[in-house]
Amino acid sequence: VRAGRCVVAVDGPSGSGKSTVSRRLAVDLGARYLDTGAMYRAITWAVLRSGVDLTDAAAVGKVAGEVELRIGTDPQGYGVTVDGTGVDQEIRGPEVTGAVSAVAAVPAVRALLVARQRELIAQAGRIVVEGRDIGAVVAPDADLKVYLTASEAARARRRSAEDAADVAATAADLARRDRLDSTRTVNPLRQTDDAVELDTTELGIDEVVAQLRELLTERGVA
Ligand code: DC
Repeated sequence: VRAGRCVVAVDGPSGSGKSTVSRRLAVDLGARYLDTGAMYRAITWAVLRSGVDLTDAAAVGKVAGEVELRIGTDPQGYGVTVDGTGVDQEIRGPEVTGAVSAVAAVPAVRALLVARQRELIAQAGRIVVEGRDIGAVVAPDADLKVYLTASEAARARRRSAEDAADVAATAADLARRDRLDSTRTVNPLRQTDDAVELDTTELGIDEVVAQLRELLTERGVA
């Protein structure tokens, strides 16, 4: 494992395989891993706990600025805490999933989290970062930018397996979140021109990770 800096940005919609691929790649590279979606989810949990109106951007931004959010970067198991309370399970629940797109659309929330994400990336040096705006906004100078896609059917199948939920309900929820995440005004889900696009519909995790490692080797960064 080389000691040099290596930042890999992995963006794409829900269910495209981002988390599985990013974690595996980080383990293989001996790098850190940052799940930026978990940060938006943790802030959403804090907002729901506070009881403020989700459509009140100023109030949501205020809650975000006041909580103490901590997130680990170990790809084999990272913890997320809000004001010292572990929220790893809570942030995957339906309440948070249903509200996160609204919270992630608030400019003050994004400004705060993007700044935190940049600090964590700088500290780590070698890191795989997954989200929606990593290549475009958080780490525009990443050594490799990956944009993962998959058919809607494949994405709904994966997500419903993870959540033990109904495939049709999951498909509808995914479509709703995709629409909100891609059409918001601030930092929407976006593929940059310099990103490598990989369709994971027919590819196994090993194949995707192997292709990314090859790209990194070609570029001389890992
Ligand atoms: O990847 P995920 O499903 O855990 O992300 C949760 C939500 O957070 C998703 O609806 C979009 C938002 N998000 C974002 O706006 N920007 C990021 N960098 C990561 C996630």
